[in-house]
Amino acid sequence: MTLMSPLHPDRNLALELVRATEAAAIRATPFIGKGDKLGADGAAVDAMRAFLSTVEFDGTVVIGEGEKDNAPMLFNGERVGTGMGPACDIAVDPIDGTSLAAAGRQNAISVIAASDKGTMLDASSVYYMNKLVAGPEGIGVVDIRQSIGENIRAIAKAKGKNVADVIVAVLDRPRHADLIEDIRAAGAGTRLLLDGDVAGGLHAARYGSRIDLCIGIGGSPEGVVTTCAVKGLGGIVQGILHPMNDEERARGLATGLKFDYVYEMDELVASDNTFFVATGVTDGGFLDGVRRKGPIIKTHSIAIRSKSGTVREVYAEHNADRWF
Ligand code: FBP
Repeated sequence: MTLMSPLHPDRNLALELVRATEAAAIRATPFIGKGDKLGADGAAVDAMRAFLSTVEFDGTVVIGEGEKDNAPMLFNGERVGTGMGPACDIAVDPIDGTSLAAAGRQNAISVIAASDKGTMLDASSVYYMNKLVAGPEGIGVVDIRQSIGENIRAIAKAKGKNVADVIVAVLDRPRHADLIEDIRAAGAGTRLLLDGDVAGGLHAARYGSRIDLCIGIGGSPEGVVTTCAVKGLGGIVQGILHPMNDEERARGLATGLKFDYVYEMDELVASDNTFFVATGVTDGGFLDGVRRKGPIIKTHSIAIRSKSGTVREVYAEHNADRWF
């Protein structure tokens, strides 16, 4: 591992990008619990884009809000930033857990991930990916090719805990009924996620967390975003693309994606220079949601940089008059 000289520190882009997730989270707050997914997402997208335009970098959105014709802003291929400075791939999820935010439920976050230009896997043609995420103890221990029972026993042993104390996060979806049954049959417990498997993955990888593994089928872009974070936290991410039908498989093949194939971390993001920032929109397990108290709006964010392995929690107070 190369250590940077403390006398010659280089730039931590995450500390600048965090302003954009803070802005997206703040702007989404009037929509929390109002049942308006599109309104919440639109407000978050506009704010994120406005703040990204002030950051000195040459970013290309690899994972965005969709294709240009369907998404007026932050579409795949859009250039963001001032155009000066480092050339980066950018993945944005202005709200991961839009339904959660619209319903007023916990665990909605605003997310940006970045890495060196040309290093993020563009899996946008295939919506779902089967994923496995674990923290540092899982490296060389858990593997998506193993049964869930084997993975549970292996992570329990590596962490020196009883299988009964292992907790596995899984999206609560009918497609996971057998998986959930298998986790419980192995003697472990589940943490069923209504939405938001980026937060679930971070939970699994973060040191000292109650969650030991996050597994199952969720969004492919979320797999790439999670990898940018786990490269900084330490840990493992593996993914297998999960096409919904032959058409999607054909589209994926045409763009060079591989099926029935395990994507390892360096294939999901081929860089050890990654940044990940997230701000809580609503309260969650590892980030507080946006709070307004009188003239102050409080935000809680996390900023992760893989090169140094630094994880920062950023608490900010914003002047409410300037925002609303
Ligand atoms: P969005 O809020 O960005 O739509 O994503 C929420 C989410 O729960 C992701 O975290 C997850 O990867 C994906 O949706 C799962 O998809 P589905 O809801 O179709 O199971």
